[in-house]
Amino acid sequence: MKRILTGDRTTGKLHLGHYVGSLQNRVKLQDEYDTFILLADIQALTTHFKQPEIIRESIYEVAIDNLSVGLDPDKATLFLQSKIGAIAELTVFYSMLVTVNALRHNPTIKTEAKQYGYDDLSYGFLGYPVSQTADITFCNADLVPVGEDQIPHIELSRKIARRFNDMYGRGQEIVREPEVLISETPRLVGLDGNAKMGKSLGNAIYLSDTIEDVNAKVKLAVTDKNRISLKDKGNPDICTVSQYHKAFNASNYENICEMCRNADIGCVACKKLLTEKLNGLLDPFREKRAYYESHRNEVRDIIVAGSERANAIGNETVENIKKAMSIHL
Ligand code: TRP
Repeated sequence: MKRILTGDRTTGKLHLGHYVGSLQNRVKLQDEYDTFILLADIQALTTHFKQPEIIRESIYEVAIDNLSVGLDPDKATLFLQSKIGAIAELTVFYSMLVTVNALRHNPTIKTEAKQYGYDDLSYGFLGYPVSQTADITFCNADLVPVGEDQIPHIELSRKIARRFNDMYGRGQEIVREPEVLISETPRLVGLDGNAKMGKSLGNAIYLSDTIEDVNAKVKLAVTDKNRISLKDKGNPDICTVSQYHKAFNASNYENICEMCRNADIGCVACKKLLTEKLNGLLDPFREKRAYYESHRNEVRDIIVAGSERANAIGNETVENIKKAMSIHL
């Protein structure tokens, strides 16, 4: 079985954008691949080092988000980054193979630095793509299923793996060169029409939202602003709700757009259709979530067992890498 690795920073609960961009895909892939899911609490520190209590609580939230949408702990290995010493060790070794300029030019780093208002970057933040390379390679992952914004990081991981093997491999592959697997679903817009759904943007529907939350949020979602009365013909191309129909109600999408253009459906009714669809998707997740929330010890056990498995593999990788680099007595 080929191995995949992906994961999330533990900086808060996950939303529908994460679901369409990543979670949905990993749940599908767990049947075909040996699946490793990382709870990236160390990477979370790169932006949330002043709020360690958020990171700690989010470990459980993100773990339960994953389990609630169908990640099966008997199939997938869910583990905690800070428990894997190999990741920290590999990060140090790999850091020699990357220049500061290469990191500075990473477009995702640039976007995030702007988003967080950093003008001078911490060493840890600038270097997190190196640590991410360790996340991916410590377990010899073949594939990394992620959203588009992660492409520059995986490109870097490939470069580091190649450089390592060229330099220390003596013709052998010591570090597995990973491949990126991009989610086919386009990025989900925010309820406010913002290009991205994000927790810092306040425009997200969370996997943990109740029926009432979803109803209230969809009611406030931005539609075609030129459409004032029911008789006005709408333009679904500039409507947030239509994009959600596309993502979550695909079989009805064309039909709904047609009705909107002809003023055969109003925004209230259109939103109601969406709300029903979203709650239909979320209901089974809510049921699983309720179980795990009342069995937090079980969640803990899952993470501990996953981290043990990850450690066994990681320790072996570190041995191989040190041997290749002649770091031994
Ligand atoms: N950087 C990823 C994100 O922000 C999270 C992450 C950390 C990750 N390590 C990873 C993703 C390794 C894939 C592989 O979503």
